[in-house]
Amino acid sequence: MLFQRVKPLDQILATAEKKGLTRQLGPVQLTLLGIGAIIGTGIFVLTAEAGQKAGPGMIISFVIAAVVCALAALAYAELAAMIPVSGSAYTYTYGVLGESLAWIVGWALVLEYAVAAGAVAVGWSGYMNGLLMSAGHALPEALRTGPYDGGAFNVLAFAISLVITALLVFGTSKSAQVNAVLVSIKIVALIVFIAVAMPTVKDVNFHPFFPSGWGSPMGGVGVLGAAASIFFAYVGFDAVSTAAEETKNPNRNIPIGLIGSLAVCTVFYLLVGYAAVGAVGSQPMMGADGMSLATGSQAFAAACQGSVEALVCSKDPLAQVLRMLGFASIGNLIGLAAALALPSVILMMIFGQTRIFFVMSRDGLLPNFLSKIHPRYHTPHIVTMITGVAVSLFSAMFPVGILADISNSGTLFAFIMVSIAVMILRVKQPTRARPFRTPLAWVVCPLGILGCLLLFVNLSVYTISLFVGWATIGLVVYYLYGYRKSHLANGTEPT
Ligand code: ALA
Repeated sequence: MLFQRVKPLDQILATAEKKGLTRQLGPVQLTLLGIGAIIGTGIFVLTAEAGQKAGPGMIISFVIAAVVCALAALAYAELAAMIPVSGSAYTYTYGVLGESLAWIVGWALVLEYAVAAGAVAVGWSGYMNGLLMSAGHALPEALRTGPYDGGAFNVLAFAISLVITALLVFGTSKSAQVNAVLVSIKIVALIVFIAVAMPTVKDVNFHPFFPSGWGSPMGGVGVLGAAASIFFAYVGFDAVSTAAEETKNPNRNIPIGLIGSLAVCTVFYLLVGYAAVGAVGSQPMMGADGMSLATGSQAFAAACQGSVEALVCSKDPLAQVLRMLGFASIGNLIGLAAALALPSVILMMIFGQTRIFFVMSRDGLLPNFLSKIHPRYHTPHIVTMITGVAVSLFSAMFPVGILADISNSGTLFAFIMVSIAVMILRVKQPTRARPFRTPLAWVVCPLGILGCLLLFVNLSVYTISLFVGWATIGLVVYYLYGYRKSHLANGTEPT
C-alpha cells in the first residue's frame, strides 16, 4: 500500500509543460534567490540558541549542519534538474515513492515552510524590539514575546506575518530586483559584523569549548543538539528547486543555484559564528545538573533576567555583540539591516507554502478551492490567507527556537526522502537523462540520510513528538480525503 500510486515522471513533466510558467531565471538570479531564502533568522537570531545549547562548540555545530545540507543539496540537484517542476520534494516523492509518502512529505513541508515563516517572524520581532528599545520607544514587555517566551503576545511577529500575507494576496511576489537589494543588505551587514568583531576575538572566550558535550539522542542540547537547531540557518536553498519551472536551462542552472547559494552562506556563517563567540564568548546558562538550561524554559528565562547582556540570552545577538563591544550605533545598523531584510524570508516561506499546497490541490489531494485564483489579483488568495493567519497566530505565541526546531523536523524528513528517491530512481530508471548527476551517489545519499537522521534524533523529545503527532494527523487526513479524491487514482488529471 505504501508504495502504490507512483505518478509517472513523464506525466509530471507533461503537466508542468502544459501549465508552464515562463522560464526567465538565470544562474546568478537563482543563486541570489537561494541566498535570499537562506540568510535570515538562523544566523541573525539562532546563534544565541546554538550558543546556549553548545557553548563555543557551536562553531562545530555550524560545520556539521553545513555538511548535512551540502549532501542533501547534491541529491536535490539531481532530482531538480531531472524533474524541473514545482512542488520540490513532494513532487519527486510522488514520482518515485508513490502517493502516500508524497502526501506525508507535502504535509511535512508545511512544517518546513509555514512554521519556518513563523520562526523568522519571531526572529524579526527580536531585532525590531531591540531597535525600539535603543530608540527609547520600547513596547510593554508583555507584548514583546509570546506566552511561551516570557511575555503574553508577540504583537510585532503577529503584525509582520499579516502584512506579508496581505502583500502576497495583492500579488507582490518575488521580484528579482528587490531580492537582489535585500540580499546585498544582508551580506553587507554580515561583512560589517565580521569586520568589527573579528579583530576583537580572544582565545579565552573559547574556553571551555564543550561545556555541554556532544549531546544525547532526544536531548536537544550539546554540539549535536545545536547542529539540529542551527540547521535552520541553511534551510532555504531548496527554494531554488521550487523555482525550477521558471528557470532558463534548468539542467545547468539549478545545480549552480542550489550548491552556489549554500556554499556562499556557509562561508559567511562560519566567519560570523567564529567572530561572535570569539568576541564576547557564549557560555550557556547552566542548570543545577550541570547541563545547559533548555531555551524557552522558565529556568532559562529566570537565569537570563540576571544576565541580560549574555549572548545566549539575546534576542538580537549580532547587534548585541557589537553593542557589548562598544559599537552601539553599528550594532543598531545591523539591527536595521535585519529588520529590513528578514521580512523577505517570511515572504519566501509563505509563498513556498502556498505553492506546495497549490500543487497538492492540483493533484486532487487537497480540496480544489485551495487552488482558486483571485480574479483580480491573480493570486491563490484563499490558501494564502489561511496560511498567513495560521503563521501569524503561532508566531505570536511561541519562541523562535521552538518554531525553528519544529520546522527542522519537517525539513529533515523531506531531505531524507529526496536522498532515498535519488537512489531508487538510479536503480529503477538507470537510463533516464540526468543532466546533473549527484557525484558518488551511493556514498553521498546514504551519508546524507545518516546525517539527517543524526540531526533529527538530536532534536528535543518535545519536537520529535510534535512531528510524529503531525504526521499521524496527516495520514488520517489523507485516508479520509486525498486517498479517495486523488486525480491520479481516479484518472481525473486536469488537462
Ligand atoms: N534559513 C532561513 C533563516 O535562517 C530559513 O531564516
